[in-house]
Amino acid sequence: MEIDATVTERLVSARSVAAFTGAGMSAESGVPTFRDAQTGLWQHYDPADLATPEAFQRDPALVWQWYSWRRQLVGAAEPNAGHLALADWASLSESFSVVTQNVDSLHQRAGNDIVLELHGNLHRDVCSHELTPVRDPVPPDVEGAPPRCPQCAAPLRPDVVWFGEMLPQKTWQAALQAAADADVLLSIGTSGLVQPAASIPEVAMQQGALVIEINPEPTPLSDAVALRLAGSAAEVLPALVRRLTERR
Ligand code: OAD
Repeated sequence: MEIDATVTERLVSARSVAAFTGAGMSAESGVPTFRDAQTGLWQHYDPADLATPEAFQRDPALVWQWYSWRRQLVGAAEPNAGHLALADWASLSESFSVVTQNVDSLHQRAGNDIVLELHGNLHRDVCSHELTPVRDPVPPDVEGAPPRCPQCAAPLRPDVVWFGEMLPQKTWQAALQAAADADVLLSIGTSGLVQPAASIPEVAMQQGALVIEINPEPTPLSDAVALRLAGSAAEVLPALVRRLTERR
């Protein structure tokens, strides 16, 4: 992996680091990226048709069952060497934030403690009316339908951001701050297609951060970053952390 002396110097001397991650971060944990072909009985559905408030309104049971299927897929996944490398990097840094579009909890399970989940988390449910966490949900009256909120009887929904919905504002502001404060920003495993999340690397670039992209494929960001490492998260990140520890 070719990294010139100036970039290495900036990596070693960085006080504040932000890692901006997308579905490619979890690909080597066996979690299908968002745009991967759906499998099994879900092959006839386009995620963009299921991950919307309108789809949930129309058929809560179908959307609930799709998320149960994804929960079971993700539940079987383990953090990969890339997730673990980011947790190691955090232990070497004064300030290290993960800003993720992923909803799979793998960064937390790898050991990072500052994880800003822009698109929510698959493992949490909220009342679809009050959007608050629910204790003791009421079991569904129909098999396969979502449980109901004990307060208002509305169906539960996964605590994830659907197409057309706003990002959680506090998390979004914290993510912007992390990008504004970063000396180094890593953009890892994201196609950079979905706004506003995709603007995070630009915020860092505008204030002079060193931005490095890690992705086997080029993206709209590739020509603008200081360094593009064409490889997978589970290969490149451990090599970067090894380089850092050698220089410490
Ligand atoms: P995508 O599926 O759009 O992009 C995944 C990126 O990861 C691609 O650029 C791949 O080249 C790259 N990739 C694949 N394997 C990789 C690996 N092993 N290591 C590193 N990179 C790898 O996923 P996202 O960019 O995360 O939003 O998509 C962003 C958002 O689009 C998702 O959060 C979701 C979707 O709409 C919502 O659900 C609101």
